Amino acid sequence: MPSVSNLPHRRMFVVKASISDGPMKKLGRSDAECEADVVAGNIPEAPPVPPTPASPAGTPVVPSLDINRRPRRNRRSPILRSAFQETSLSPSNFVYPLFIHEGEEDTPIGAMPGCYRLGWRHGLLEEVAKARDVGVNSIVLFPKVPDALKTPTGDEAYNDSGLVPRTIRLLKDKYPDLIIYTDVALDPYSSDGHDGIVREDGVIMNDETVHQLCKQAVSQARAGADVVAPSDMMDGRVGAIRSALDAEGFQHVSIMSYTAKYASSFYGPFREALDSNPRFGDKKTYQMNPANYREALIELRADESEGADILLVKPGLPYLDVIRLLRDNSPLPIAAYQVSGEYSMIKAGGVLKMIDEEKVMLESLMCLRRAGADIILTYFALQAARCLCGEK
Ligand code: PBG
Repeated sequence: MPSVSNLPHRRMFVVKASISDGPMKKLGRSDAECEADVVAGNIPEAPPVPPTPASPAGTPVVPSLDINRRPRRNRRSPILRSAFQETSLSPSNFVYPLFIHEGEEDTPIGAMPGCYRLGWRHGLLEEVAKARDVGVNSIVLFPKVPDALKTPTGDEAYNDSGLVPRTIRLLKDKYPDLIIYTDVALDPYSSDGHDGIVREDGVIMNDETVHQLCKQAVSQARAGADVVAPSDMMDGRVGAIRSALDAEGFQHVSIMSYTAKYASSFYGPFREALDSNPRFGDKKTYQMNPANYREALIELRADESEGADILLVKPGLPYLDVIRLLRDNSPLPIAAYQVSGEYSMIKAGGVLKMIDEEKVMLESLMCLRRAGADIILTYFALQAARCLCGEK
């Protein structure tokens, strides 16, 4: 801060608005001299008002509309538009879903161009490093489990030396501040490809499955998971997982509940990626009917009362109304999952030059935020973060 006594030609009667304005510039004439000039009629020059730009020939000449609301006024320049932008999109909003496998190589996923099953020891670490470089510090892991380890009861799901716990430990060792979300569900471990245990008549057993999910969540927490995310849609699993975590001393581990997960055809490419298609039937006795809206409130109330920390809607873009419904009915953070089919459609449209991939990607993510999502699980996390950081 300049000291007043150091100012050249200090005049005691000048009261400055702020001492941090620094020394006054001396350009020649004093304020009083300038004012006197204007009063005397010697008006200094300034550029003229530009002429009204010409309209193209043939533009109809009409009286202006008598309206006092012209919303276009607030959209007329980039600076005004950005000043009045209601929603923002930042890499900190993204959670990056990553597929891992036991192999050393990264295997491309045919139906999801740009996505790979990453080798848990090499490719995964590189991908995480790239994501962190552009501000994406949250990931969610999806394992491709060897067929030989799949059983009807999915017991590999809570093997402390299994692929997911091993990977979490490796990641936490290298990146202690990385936030790791895990998928809690039996489908990658189930020989039936279902999220729960299947009885011989085809019924997906609820409470027995929840028992397994609790063991799975505790195993993931023990390895260092920050947020466990039950995606199975069994009843009562959030409360049961909360109790199981607390009983083992994992009070600090959060639960992100897949609150409104629909039985959607948009999951196709994901199931190809993990080879996790149900061996028979569909998931309609546990995942929600895409025709239903009010039912999401029933799931919301259950998850809130059972202690969920974050509520998730899945898929994303076709279900913006459900995101808004949860946003308006709960103070909890809301997550949206832009699923594999949504990703693949945008990629395919881009490859075929039918749409501008990058612009559609960013618009779709912004729309999920506008609908009320705090965080977005998206396979575009790295690509979008690079755009937002001005890379690429
Ligand atoms: C299964 C699970 C699925 C997805 C995430 N966890 C698929 C399913 O329910 O069949 C889908 C994600 C995507 O499509 O991107 N627990």
